[in-house]
Amino acid sequence: MGFFLLPKATPCILFLALLSCTCFTSTDAYDPLDPNGNITIKWDIISWTPDGYVAVVTMNNFQQYRHIASPGWSMGWTWAKKEVIWSMMGGQTTEQGDCSKFKGGIPHCCKKDPTVVDLLPGTPYNQQIANCCKGGVLSSWVQDPTNAVSSFQVSVGRAGTTNRTVKVPKNFTLKAPGPGYTCGPAKIVAPTKFITSDKRRVTQALMTWNVTCTYSQFLAQKTPSCCVSLSSFYNDTLVPCLTCACGCQSNSSQSGTCVDPDTPHLASVVAGSGKNNFSPLVQCTHHMCPVSIHWHVKLNYKEYWRVKVTITNYNYRMNYSEWNMVVQHPNFDNLTQLFSFNYKSLTPYGSINDTAMLWGVKFYNDFLNQAGPNGNVQSELLFRKDKATFTFDKGWAFPRRIYFNGDNCVMPPPDAYPWLPNAGARQEVSLFALVIASLVALVFYAPA
Ligand SMILES: *[C@@H]1O[C@H](CO)[C@@H](O)[C@H](O)[C@H]1NC(C)=O
Ligand SMILES: *[C@@H]1O[C@H](CO)[C@@H](O)[C@H](O)[C@H]1NC(C)=O
Ligand SMILES: *[C@@H]1O[C@H](CO)[C@@H](O)[C@H](O)[C@H]1NC(C)=O
Ligand SMILES: *[C@@H]1O[C@H](CO)[C@@H](O)[C@H](O)[C@H]1NC(C)=O
Ligand SMILES: *[C@@H]1O[C@H](CO)[C@@H](O)[C@H](O)[C@H]1NC(C)=O
Ligand SMILES: *[C@@H]1O[C@H](CO)[C@@H](O)[C@H](O)[C@H]1NC(C)=O
Ligand SMILES: *[C@@H]1O[C@H](CO)[C@@H](O)[C@H](O)[C@H]1NC(C)=O
Ligand SMILES: *[C@@H]1O[C@H](CO)[C@@H](O)[C@H](O)[C@H]1NC(C)=O
Ligand SMILES: *[C@@H]1O[C@H](CO)[C@@H](O)[C@H](O)[C@H]1NC(C)=O
Repeated sequence: MGFFLLPKATPCILFLALLSCTCFTSTDAYDPLDPNGNITIKWDIISWTPDGYVAVVTMNNFQQYRHIASPGWSMGWTWAKKEVIWSMMGGQTTEQGDCSKFKGGIPHCCKKDPTVVDLLPGTPYNQQIANCCKGGVLSSWVQDPTNAVSSFQVSVGRAGTTNRTVKVPKNFTLKAPGPGYTCGPAKIVAPTKFITSDKRRVTQALMTWNVTCTYSQFLAQKTPSCCVSLSSFYNDTLVPCLTCACGCQSNSSQSGTCVDPDTPHLASVVAGSGKNNFSPLVQCTHHMCPVSIHWHVKLNYKEYWRVKVTITNYNYRMNYSEWNMVVQHPNFDNLTQLFSFNYKSLTPYGSINDTAMLWGVKFYNDFLNQAGPNGNVQSELLFRKDKATFTFDKGWAFPRRIYFNGDNCVMPPPDAYPWLPNAGARQEVSLFALVIASLVALVFYAPA
């Protein structure tokens, strides 16, 4: 293959990228790559009862790339009056609370602030409703929109029985299952219209209210959860993940949250560390991240260039099912080929096509195994060079930003990016390339 280096000064681009990185490392719920992402909780009252109502509660995940993985969501609220839950379908409250005042029919839940979880797959049909019983797993909108919805039905007593006397619940919470989401107040909206499956009749809810919940990485965890390392064919230096990117070993080894992979009883240490604890149990590394992403600029062709991406899991306590990553790089508008990952371009700002969502192929590599020999997935990306912007200079070939499962990964500082060989060496290479090119030309165009 031809070996052409086309250094072009584009300091401006890198500067802009840096600027945007620092500006957007904000702590609020706003995500620049998915500015409209949210989870909407919708209550539709479908019938009035003698002392209240029956409502179908539907959760829609409108986030492009953030999903809720096992062990799933839990949702809470505070009743506005003295409501109780007589019964539920497709979901259950985690605690019944004190129902001692009731004689005869005992409610499903008497708590002022119930917490609801999804039922597990395999629940008997007579306890199911549509979109329930997935163990609280909610896919991202891009990966699987049909599974980005979850529902349960609740029969509420001691409540209002008309749309003027019903009081909407307050203080909604959504856990995934840990913190991260903040929910706004319930807003009464136009009643939902339902279309029958044969599309010949439209019915409508008696009353509907919506709650919108948004995610903040800062609320979810105090430390980052992934880091990025870089390398290239044109420089032997491997730029590793930042030391202490997700925590420091000295501290955490004391508290026992990092495991040496060479420890003789690895399996028992991992097994004995508490199955119901969802905080990561990571392999000891200098970066201490549960996940690292390596971007290697692998090959240079005349018209194309090739990158190899490897995702490595260092977390002994997590298999990442339906994992995804989001990468920002200016050449994604000319992505030509992608091996064994799915791709969709994200264009939160209309025309700028520089952001890609990548995720695994179902039943092939959509499951990133826990830390260990199988704890990685990889792919190669082939980009077509745009002569106006392409360069290996100034770190242009490296990504500007990477998310894993919706969380921003820690990048190495830009001044540490692999450099092109120095100017003198570059000239030699160019000369070499020129010679090769001439030879190639000779081979192909010399008269037979
Ligand atoms: C929630 O997300 C949907 C879909 O992206 C969007 O249309 C809606 O405006 C969002 N709601 C809020 C309150 O941001
Ligand atoms: C309420 O939420 C549903 C999705 O659950 C959405 O389709 C609808 O547009 C929302 N209504 C308003 C007024 O935001
Ligand atoms: C209650 O229902 C009546 C019609 O039955 C309707 O005119 C009114 O707007 C509804 N109010 C609310 C708050 O939904
Ligand atoms: C809702 O939460 C706010 C702040 O956490 C609290 O001040 C308020 O009392 C809560 N309301 C109810 C009804 O629990
Ligand atoms: C972690 O270690 C650093 C220096 O080694 C120290 O400054 C810091 O206080 C420690 N933090 C904890 C939580 O022990
Ligand atoms: C991950 O998956 C493997 C194989 O499917 C299983 O043996 C292992 O227990 C799982 N690990 C966790 C932490 O769930
Ligand atoms: C972005 O560019 C890629 C590669 O050329 C293309 O496949 C994709 O459709 C583009 N997306 C948009 C929204 O234009
Ligand atoms: C790269 O993509 C842009 C936008 O789609 C297009 O205008 C341009 O011609 C492409 N360049 C090459 C070399 O294909
Ligand atoms: C490779 O890149 C590093 C920066 O990461 C730089 O210090 C080094 O000089 C470069 N090597 C060569 C041969 O240019």
